[in-house]
Amino acid sequence: MRPAFVVETGTHAGISAAYMGMACADNEFGHVASVEINNIWVMRADRLHGSLGEDVFNRIQVAHASSLNWATRFKNRTLSPDQDIDLLFLDSEPDLRYKELELFWDRVKPGGIIIIHDLHPNMSWASQPNPDHPHFGNYWPFGEPTFIVQELVKGSLQSCHLRTPRGCSLFYKVSVEDKDLGEATNAIDRVFSRDYMTRGS
Ligand SMILES: C[S@@+](CC[C@H](N)C(=O)[O-])C[C@H]1O[C@@H](n2cnc3c(N)ncnc32)[C@H](O)[C@@H]1O
Repeated sequence: MRPAFVVETGTHAGISAAYMGMACADNEFGHVASVEINNIWVMRADRLHGSLGEDVFNRIQVAHASSLNWATRFKNRTLSPDQDIDLLFLDSEPDLRYKELELFWDRVKPGGIIIIHDLHPNMSWASQPNPDHPHFGNYWPFGEPTFIVQELVKGSLQSCHLRTPRGCSLFYKVSVEDKDLGEATNAIDRVFSRDYMTRGS
């Protein structure tokens, strides 16, 4: 991958932003913008990124704001460079991630990648409870995708789910050129459908 512009929600200590910044430095191309609501973490992340050398540091911008406000401002292009998103990594609070997807959706390029941490359709199937989170029961515990999200993504994403203990889902935003991939995009309709998330079937 050679993303020109990566956006992350939830910087925390800056570790994932550091890896993405190092990858951009390795590519000699691309930048990472990460947003964090807690200023202590913004400062910690800046320190970490500063320790990785000028090339990496200059490729990462950490903003102190709520992803939800930042996304709105981002839409109006007051904070961001005039750039669309190649890679969107949603990793703030799990219950905010559908809202973030909704807010950033228009800015993700066709052909871009969206990663949602902690999301996996198998996280807590009744027949296969998540051993790390047995209390989740037989539904995904961080809120259901809103109708708006379901409508947004309809037929527009292909999905790939990593079966890590906490789950991590990758989505590819289909572009006009590859619309004929047809069938593959149906998988996403299942992942974001209410029945699938609540019943895991
Ligand atoms: C799971 S941690 C992020 C971990 C980081 N992405 C990594 O992998 O190294 C979640 C972070 O999101 C931040 N956060 C929570 N709500 C937020 C919001 N509305 N906007 C931005 N950051 C938020 C928390 O303060 C916390 O630092």
